[in-house]
Amino acid sequence: MLERHVTLLTGEKVLIRPLKVPDAGLYPDFLSDVTAEDLRLRFFAAMREVSAEMIDKLIHYDPVTAMAFVAIEEQSGRLLGVVRLHDDASGENGEFAILTRSHLKGHGLGWLMMKHMIAYAKDRGLKTVRGQVLGENATMLQMCGELGFHSTDDPDERGVKLVELPLAEVPAEAVH
Ligand SMILES: CC(C)(COP(=O)(O)OP(=O)(O)OC[C@H]1O[C@@H](n2cnc3c(N)ncnc32)[C@H](O)[C@@H]1OP(=O)(O)O)[C@@H](O)C(=O)NCCC(=O)NCCS
Repeated sequence: MLERHVTLLTGEKVLIRPLKVPDAGLYPDFLSDVTAEDLRLRFFAAMREVSAEMIDKLIHYDPVTAMAFVAIEEQSGRLLGVVRLHDDASGENGEFAILTRSHLKGHGLGWLMMKHMIAYAKDRGLKTVRGQVLGENATMLQMCGELGFHSTDDPDERGVKLVELPLAEVPAEAVH
């Protein structure tokens, strides 16, 4: 299932669907509502804004080895969040990254997008989904824990946690 209609804890109706090239036009408004701190938590680097070049790269991903889902507010058409999943070199595991509007925190969007991405990964037959999360990103680490991810220190990057979810441990009914 690539698309899903969901309702946030605060009542907003949202469509989660694959990212399309014309969604590039929604990025400036989306990113204007993402704080520098949230950009750092997502990209692991201090940046005041995401360059046009990087947006272009995020939009034009290779559909053979990657997938990105956007969350669109049904009433306004605004982009509320993006979750991505890129295959690793073996093609057996996916590496995720997620970003939502900073003013929308706690509305349940991140949780719903993670579940959508996990369901997609499971349907595709991947073995695990993995991510890197900064050690101070308590919300994300807690959410990953609740979703069943195991967390370890990244041996290569100080202050970074590796979170990993073996998809065989996820019952189908937990994500559908
Ligand atoms: C981290 C991030 C994705 C979280 O998104 P969010 O929409 O604020 O998260 P949610 O509202 O879905 O979840 C937050 C909380 O609700 C819980 N929750 C939400 N929906 C739930 C549900 N249906 N059932 C159970 N728990 C739920 C989560 O576990 C979490 O718990 P807490 O509020 O007690 O901490 C978002 O803040 C973000 O984009 N941050 C910046 C980028 C980043 O950190 N990315 C991660 C590294 S790639």
